[in-house]
Amino acid sequence: MTAFDSVEEAGKALAAQGYLTDDRLATMVFLMTRLEKPVLLEGPAGVGKTELAKSLAAATGRRLLRLQCYEGQDESSALYEWDYGKQLLYTQILREKIGQLVADAPDLHDAVDRIGAQESVFFSERFLAARPLLEAVRSEEPVVLLIDEIDRADEALEAVLLEMLGEYQISVPEIGTFTARNRPYVILTSNNTRDLAAALKRRCLHLFLDYPSAERELDIVRSKDTGLPEALARQLVEIVRGLRELELRKSPSISETIDWARTLAVLGVDELTAPVLSDTVSVVVKYDKDVRKALEALPRLVDPNAEVPETLHGHGHGHGHGHSHEAPKVSADRGSRSFGRRS
Ligand SMILES: Nc1ncnc2c1ncn2[C@@H]1O[C@H](COP(=O)(O)OP(=O)(O)OP(=O)(O)O)[C@@H](O)[C@H]1O
Ligand SMILES: [Mg+2]
Repeated sequence: MTAFDSVEEAGKALAAQGYLTDDRLATMVFLMTRLEKPVLLEGPAGVGKTELAKSLAAATGRRLLRLQCYEGQDESSALYEWDYGKQLLYTQILREKIGQLVADAPDLHDAVDRIGAQESVFFSERFLAARPLLEAVRSEEPVVLLIDEIDRADEALEAVLLEMLGEYQISVPEIGTFTARNRPYVILTSNNTRDLAAALKRRCLHLFLDYPSAERELDIVRSKDTGLPEALARQLVEIVRGLRELELRKSPSISETIDWARTLAVLGVDELTAPVLSDTVSVVVKYDKDVRKALEALPRLVDPNAEVPETLHGHGHGHGHGHSHEAPKVSADRGSRSFGRRS
Protein backbone atom coordinates (compact mmCIF):
# COMPACT_ATOMS: atom_id res chain seq x y z
CA MET A 1 0.00 0.00 0.00
CA THR A 2 1.82 3.08 -1.19
CA ALA A 3 0.54 6.57 -0.72
CA PHE A 4 1.97 8.19 -3.82
CA ASP A 5 3.13 6.84 -7.16
CA SER A 6 5.46 9.69 -7.94
CA VAL A 7 7.02 12.85 -6.60
CA GLU A 8 4.56 14.81 -8.66
CA GLU A 9 1.62 13.00 -7.18
CA ALA A 10 2.90 13.66 -3.66
CA GLY A 11 3.13 17.37 -4.45
CA LYS A 12 -0.35 17.43 -5.94
CA ALA A 13 -1.91 15.58 -3.02
CA LEU A 14 -0.42 18.06 -0.57
CA ALA A 15 -1.46 21.01 -2.73
CA ALA A 16 -5.01 19.67 -2.67
CA GLN A 17 -4.82 20.09 1.12
CA GLY A 18 -3.61 23.67 0.73
CA TYR A 19 0.05 22.89 1.34
CA LEU A 20 2.32 24.02 -1.47
CA THR A 21 5.63 22.27 -1.92
CA ASP A 22 8.62 22.76 -4.15
CA ASP A 23 10.40 19.86 -5.88
CA ARG A 24 12.81 19.30 -3.03
CA LEU A 25 10.07 19.05 -0.44
CA ALA A 26 7.79 16.92 -2.59
CA THR A 27 10.70 14.57 -3.29
CA MET A 28 11.37 14.27 0.41
CA VAL A 29 7.74 13.45 1.15
CA PHE A 30 7.64 10.89 -1.63
CA LEU A 31 10.82 9.28 -0.34
CA MET A 32 9.67 9.15 3.25
CA THR A 33 6.54 7.26 2.22
CA ARG A 34 8.55 4.90 0.04
CA LEU A 35 11.58 4.28 2.24
CA GLU A 36 9.44 4.29 5.39
CA LYS A 37 12.02 6.41 7.14
CA PRO A 38 11.31 9.21 9.57
CA VAL A 39 11.94 12.74 8.34
CA LEU A 40 13.65 15.39 10.39
CA LEU A 41 12.57 18.89 9.34
CA GLU A 42 14.76 21.69 10.58
CA GLY A 43 14.26 25.34 9.92
CA PRO A 44 13.16 28.70 11.25
CA ALA A 45 9.77 29.30 12.82
CA GLY A 46 6.73 29.53 10.60
CA VAL A 47 8.04 27.91 7.43
CA GLY A 48 5.47 25.12 7.46
CA LYS A 49 7.12 22.29 9.40
CA THR A 50 4.16 21.41 11.58
CA GLU A 51 1.74 22.14 8.77
CA LEU A 52 3.45 19.56 6.56
CA ALA A 53 2.63 16.77 9.00
CA LYS A 54 -0.97 17.89 9.24
CA SER A 55 -1.30 18.12 5.47
CA LEU A 56 0.35 14.74 4.93
CA ALA A 57 -2.13 13.17 7.32
CA ALA A 58 -5.02 14.79 5.48
CA ALA A 59 -3.61 13.86 2.06
CA THR A 60 -3.17 10.19 2.97
CA GLY A 61 -6.31 9.90 5.07
CA ARG A 62 -4.25 8.91 8.09
CA ARG A 63 -4.89 9.92 11.65
CA LEU A 64 -2.39 12.44 13.04
CA LEU A 65 -0.78 11.65 16.37
CA ARG A 66 1.23 14.47 17.86
CA LEU A 67 3.87 14.56 20.51
CA GLN A 68 4.57 18.15 21.47
CA CYS A 69 7.99 18.30 23.11
CA TYR A 70 8.95 20.57 25.98
CA GLU A 71 11.77 21.07 28.43
CA GLY A 72 11.90 18.58 31.26
CA GLN A 73 9.54 16.19 29.51
CA ASP A 74 9.86 12.62 30.68
CA GLU A 75 9.45 9.48 28.67
CA SER A 76 6.11 8.50 30.16
CA SER A 77 4.42 11.34 28.30
CA ALA A 78 5.94 10.05 25.06
CA LEU A 79 5.65 6.27 25.40
CA TYR A 80 3.13 5.03 27.96
CA GLU A 81 2.08 5.19 31.58
CA TRP A 82 0.56 2.64 33.88
CA ASP A 83 -2.97 3.70 34.62
CA TYR A 84 -2.59 3.82 38.39
CA GLY A 85 -6.13 5.00 39.02
CA LYS A 86 -7.60 2.14 37.06
CA GLN A 87 -5.35 -0.39 38.80
CA LEU A 88 -6.51 0.94 42.14
CA LEU A 89 -10.14 0.83 41.16
CA TYR A 90 -9.84 -2.77 40.06
CA THR A 91 -8.09 -3.85 43.26
CA GLN A 92 -10.83 -2.24 45.30
CA ILE A 93 -13.63 -3.84 43.39
CA LEU A 94 -11.80 -7.17 43.54
CA ARG A 95 -10.89 -6.83 47.20
CA GLU A 96 -12.83 -9.91 48.15
CA LYS A 97 -11.26 -12.01 45.44
CA ILE A 98 -7.81 -10.88 46.43
CA GLY A 99 -8.66 -11.56 50.04
CA GLN A 100 -9.51 -15.15 49.21
CA LEU A 101 -6.20 -15.54 47.46
CA VAL A 102 -4.22 -14.78 50.59
CA ALA A 103 -6.75 -15.93 53.20
CA ASP A 104 -5.00 -19.16 54.07
CA ALA A 105 -1.46 -17.91 53.59
CA PRO A 106 0.61 -19.06 56.59
CA ASP A 107 2.63 -15.83 56.85
CA LEU A 108 3.13 -12.42 55.28
CA HIS A 109 5.98 -13.66 53.15
CA ASP A 110 3.79 -16.26 51.55
CA ALA A 111 0.93 -13.78 51.06
CA VAL A 112 3.21 -11.38 49.22
CA ASP A 113 4.45 -14.20 47.03
CA ARG A 114 0.90 -15.13 46.11
CA ILE A 115 0.01 -11.55 45.20
CA GLY A 116 3.28 -11.28 43.30
CA ALA A 117 2.35 -14.29 41.23
CA GLN A 118 -0.70 -12.37 40.00
CA GLU A 119 1.24 -9.24 39.11
CA SER A 120 0.93 -9.81 35.38
CA VAL A 121 -2.80 -9.27 35.70
CA PHE A 122 -2.23 -5.69 36.78
CA PHE A 123 0.66 -4.97 34.48
CA SER A 124 -1.13 -6.02 31.34
CA GLU A 125 -2.25 -4.07 28.30
CA ARG A 126 -5.55 -3.41 30.00
CA PHE A 127 -3.88 -1.02 32.41
CA LEU A 128 -1.52 0.55 29.92
CA ALA A 129 -2.23 4.16 29.00
CA ALA A 130 -0.61 4.59 25.60
CA ARG A 131 0.98 7.95 24.80
CA PRO A 132 1.62 9.06 21.19
CA LEU A 133 4.59 6.82 20.38
CA LEU A 134 3.02 3.63 21.68
CA GLU A 135 -0.29 4.67 20.23
CA ALA A 136 1.35 4.99 16.81
CA VAL A 137 2.85 1.52 17.10
CA ARG A 138 -0.33 -0.12 18.38
CA SER A 139 -2.74 1.59 16.02
CA GLU A 140 -4.79 -0.75 13.84
CA GLU A 141 -4.80 1.85 11.09
CA PRO A 142 -1.62 3.46 9.79
CA VAL A 143 -1.00 6.93 11.20
CA VAL A 144 1.17 10.00 10.77
CA LEU A 145 3.24 10.66 13.87
CA LEU A 146 4.39 14.22 14.44
CA ILE A 147 7.14 14.69 17.00
CA ASP A 148 7.06 18.45 17.18
CA GLU A 149 9.92 20.66 18.33
CA ILE A 150 12.16 17.84 19.45
CA ASP A 151 14.94 20.33 20.19
CA ARG A 152 12.93 21.61 23.16
CA ALA A 153 13.05 18.24 24.89
CA ASP A 154 16.10 17.02 26.78
CA GLU A 155 18.62 14.71 25.18
CA ALA A 156 17.37 11.84 27.32
CA LEU A 157 14.08 11.90 25.46
CA GLU A 158 15.91 11.67 22.16
CA ALA A 159 17.45 8.42 23.33
CA VAL A 160 14.00 7.11 24.18
CA LEU A 161 12.90 7.76 20.60
CA LEU A 162 15.65 5.72 18.99
CA GLU A 163 13.98 2.32 19.25
CA MET A 164 10.86 3.73 17.71
CA LEU A 165 12.63 5.60 14.92
CA GLY A 166 14.93 2.76 13.96
CA GLU A 167 12.68 -0.27 14.30
CA TYR A 168 9.15 1.05 14.74
CA GLN A 169 8.84 -0.86 17.97
CA ILE A 170 8.51 -0.12 21.65
CA SER A 171 9.43 -2.40 24.52
CA VAL A 172 7.37 -2.46 27.67
CA PRO A 173 9.40 -4.57 30.11
CA GLU A 174 6.35 -6.01 31.92
CA ILE A 175 4.61 -7.04 28.73
CA GLY A 176 6.99 -7.37 25.83
CA THR A 177 7.71 -5.60 22.58
CA PHE A 178 5.08 -3.93 20.46
CA THR A 179 5.92 -3.73 16.77
CA ALA A 180 4.02 -1.54 14.37
CA ARG A 181 1.61 -3.44 12.16
CA ASN A 182 1.65 -0.55 9.77
CA ARG A 183 4.63 1.69 9.77
CA PRO A 184 3.68 5.24 10.63
CA TYR A 185 4.96 8.18 8.66
CA VAL A 186 7.06 9.97 11.22
CA ILE A 187 7.91 13.67 11.02
CA LEU A 188 10.17 15.31 13.55
CA THR A 189 10.57 19.06 13.61
CA SER A 190 13.26 21.23 15.12
CA ASN A 191 13.88 24.95 15.37
CA ASN A 192 17.59 24.33 15.77
CA THR A 193 17.79 25.70 19.30
CA ARG A 194 20.33 22.96 20.00
CA ASP A 195 22.15 20.23 18.11
CA LEU A 196 20.42 16.90 17.96
CA ALA A 197 22.22 13.64 18.66
CA ALA A 198 23.98 11.97 15.75
CA ALA A 199 22.17 8.72 16.56
CA LEU A 200 18.86 10.42 16.00
CA LYS A 201 19.92 12.18 12.82
CA ARG A 202 21.27 8.95 11.41
CA ARG A 203 17.86 7.32 11.61
CA CYS A 204 16.12 10.10 9.70
CA LEU A 205 15.97 11.64 6.29
CA HIS A 206 16.93 15.22 6.82
CA LEU A 207 15.52 18.35 5.27
CA PHE A 208 16.30 21.95 6.01
CA LEU A 209 13.10 23.85 5.36
CA ASP A 210 13.90 27.45 4.61
CA TYR A 211 11.82 30.43 3.60
CA PRO A 212 10.25 29.68 0.23
CA SER A 213 11.18 31.24 -3.09
CA ALA A 214 9.28 34.40 -3.99
CA GLU A 215 7.14 32.48 -6.47
CA ARG A 216 6.12 29.81 -3.98
CA GLU A 217 5.48 32.31 -1.23
CA LEU A 218 3.25 34.27 -3.59
CA ASP A 219 1.45 31.03 -4.48
CA ILE A 220 0.92 30.35 -0.79
CA VAL A 221 -0.40 33.86 -0.11
CA ARG A 222 -2.67 33.54 -3.14
CA SER A 223 -3.96 30.17 -1.96
CA LYS A 224 -5.02 31.66 1.38
CA ASP A 225 -7.52 34.04 -0.18
CA THR A 226 -6.26 37.02 1.74
CA GLY A 227 -8.22 39.46 -0.39
CA LEU A 228 -5.13 41.45 -1.32
CA PRO A 229 -4.92 42.20 -5.07
CA GLU A 230 -2.37 40.15 -6.97
CA ALA A 231 -0.02 43.00 -7.81
CA LEU A 232 0.14 44.15 -4.20
CA ALA A 233 0.66 40.60 -2.94
CA ARG A 234 3.59 40.21 -5.30
CA GLN A 235 5.11 43.46 -4.07
CA LEU A 236 4.46 42.53 -0.46
CA VAL A 237 6.26 39.22 -0.82
CA GLU A 238 9.33 41.07 -2.12
CA ILE A 239 9.18 43.50 0.78
CA VAL A 240 9.00 40.67 3.31
CA ARG A 241 11.96 39.05 1.61
CA GLY A 242 13.79 42.34 1.99
CA LEU A 243 12.97 42.38 5.70
CA ARG A 244 14.38 38.87 6.03
CA GLU A 245 17.71 40.13 4.80
CA LEU A 246 17.96 42.63 7.65
CA GLU A 247 19.15 39.98 10.10
CA LEU A 248 16.35 40.63 12.52
CA ARG A 249 16.12 38.80 15.79
CA LYS A 250 13.02 37.10 14.43
CA SER A 251 12.57 37.22 10.68
CA PRO A 252 9.01 37.33 9.38
CA SER A 253 7.75 33.88 8.39
CA ILE A 254 5.26 32.70 5.82
CA SER A 255 2.44 32.96 8.31
CA GLU A 256 3.37 36.58 8.94
CA THR A 257 3.36 37.38 5.24
CA ILE A 258 -0.15 35.93 5.13
CA ASP A 259 -1.19 37.97 8.18
CA TRP A 260 0.20 41.14 6.65
CA ALA A 261 -1.62 40.52 3.39
CA ARG A 262 -4.89 40.01 5.29
CA THR A 263 -4.29 43.13 7.37
CA LEU A 264 -3.67 45.28 4.32
CA ALA A 265 -6.68 43.82 2.56
CA VAL A 266 -8.92 44.60 5.53
CA LEU A 267 -7.65 48.17 5.47
CA GLY A 268 -8.61 48.35 1.81
CA VAL A 269 -5.12 49.43 0.81
CA ASP A 270 -4.70 49.87 -2.93
CA GLU A 271 -1.09 50.93 -3.01
CA LEU A 272 1.81 49.79 -0.86
CA THR A 273 3.43 52.91 0.51
CA ALA A 274 6.02 53.28 3.22
CA PRO A 275 3.57 54.97 5.63
CA VAL A 276 0.91 52.27 5.23
CA LEU A 277 3.44 49.52 5.73
CA SER A 278 5.04 51.30 8.68
CA ASP A 279 1.68 51.57 10.42
CA THR A 280 1.12 47.83 10.13
CA VAL A 281 4.66 46.54 10.45
CA SER A 282 4.01 45.16 13.93
CA VAL A 283 2.04 42.38 12.24
CA VAL A 284 5.29 40.95 10.91
CA VAL A 285 8.07 42.01 13.29
CA LYS A 286 7.59 41.44 16.96
CA TYR A 287 10.65 42.83 18.72
CA ASP A 288 11.25 46.46 19.46
CA LYS A 289 14.68 46.54 17.89
CA ASP A 290 13.42 44.68 14.83
CA VAL A 291 10.60 47.17 14.41
CA ARG A 292 13.09 50.04 14.38
CA LYS A 293 15.26 48.31 11.80
CA ALA A 294 12.23 47.51 9.68
CA LEU A 295 10.89 51.08 9.80
CA GLU A 296 14.24 52.34 8.68
CA ALA A 297 14.38 49.93 5.77
CA LEU A 298 10.80 50.15 4.55
CA PRO A 299 11.08 53.27 2.34
CA ARG A 300 13.98 51.66 0.50
CA LEU A 301 12.16 48.33 0.20
CA VAL A 302 9.02 49.97 -1.16
CA ASP A 303 10.90 51.99 -3.73
CA PRO A 304 14.58 51.17 -4.20
CA ASN A 305 15.14 54.50 -5.98
CA ALA A 306 13.64 56.64 -3.27
CA GLU A 307 16.21 56.92 -0.56
CA VAL A 308 19.22 54.94 -1.59
CA PRO A 309 22.02 55.79 0.80
CA GLU A 310 24.86 57.79 -0.70
CA THR A 311 27.32 54.89 -0.64
CA LEU A 312 25.09 52.69 -2.78
CA HIS A 313 24.60 55.18 -5.61
CA GLY A 314 25.52 53.90 -9.01
CA HIS A 315 24.86 50.41 -7.78
CA GLY A 316 21.16 50.12 -7.17
CA HIS A 317 20.11 51.48 -10.54
CA GLY A 318 17.36 49.19 -11.83
CA HIS A 319 13.92 49.16 -10.33
CA GLY A 320 13.59 46.45 -7.73
CA HIS A 321 17.21 45.50 -8.17
CA GLY A 322 18.42 42.52 -6.28
CA HIS A 323 15.31 41.14 -4.65
CA SER A 324 14.25 38.39 -6.93
CA HIS A 325 17.81 37.41 -7.77
CA GLU A 326 19.62 37.48 -4.49
CA ALA A 327 17.13 36.05 -2.08
CA PRO A 328 16.51 32.67 -3.71
CA LYS A 329 20.25 32.15 -3.92
CA VAL A 330 20.57 32.57 -0.19
CA SER A 331 17.89 30.02 0.56
CA ALA A 332 19.26 27.50 -1.92
CA ASP A 333 22.68 27.80 -0.32
CA ARG A 334 21.41 27.35 3.19
CA GLY A 335 19.49 24.30 2.08
CA SER A 336 22.39 22.50 0.51
CA ARG A 337 24.71 23.37 3.34
CA SER A 338 22.49 21.63 5.81
CA PHE A 339 22.03 18.67 3.51
CA GLY A 340 25.79 18.41 3.62
CA ARG A 341 25.59 17.96 7.36
CA ARG A 342 23.68 14.74 6.88
CA SER A 343 25.65 11.51 6.99
N1 LIG B 1 4.01 25.29 2.07
C1 LIG B 1 2.98 25.90 2.63
N2 LIG B 1 1.79 25.92 2.02
C2 LIG B 1 0.74 26.54 2.59
N3 LIG B 1 0.79 27.19 3.76
C3 LIG B 1 1.95 27.24 4.40
C4 LIG B 1 3.10 26.58 3.89
N4 LIG B 1 4.12 26.77 4.74
C5 LIG B 1 3.63 27.50 5.74
N5 LIG B 1 2.33 27.78 5.57
C6 LIG B 1 1.50 28.61 6.45
O1 LIG B 1 2.31 29.05 7.52
C7 LIG B 1 1.74 28.72 8.77
C8 LIG B 1 2.81 28.38 9.76
O2 LIG B 1 3.34 27.12 9.49
P1 LIG B 1 3.76 26.10 10.65
O3 LIG B 1 2.96 26.33 11.87
O4 LIG B 1 3.74 24.74 10.07
O5 LIG B 1 5.24 26.58 10.91
P2 LIG B 1 6.40 25.85 11.70
O6 LIG B 1 7.52 25.70 10.75
O7 LIG B 1 5.88 24.62 12.35
O8 LIG B 1 6.76 26.95 12.78
P3 LIG B 1 7.22 26.80 14.29
O9 LIG B 1 8.66 26.40 14.23
O10 LIG B 1 7.02 28.18 14.84
O11 LIG B 1 6.33 25.78 14.92
C9 LIG B 1 0.78 27.57 8.48
O12 LIG B 1 -0.31 27.57 9.34
C10 LIG B 1 0.35 27.84 7.05
O13 LIG B 1 -0.76 28.72 7.04
MG1 LIG C 1 5.57 24.15 14.35
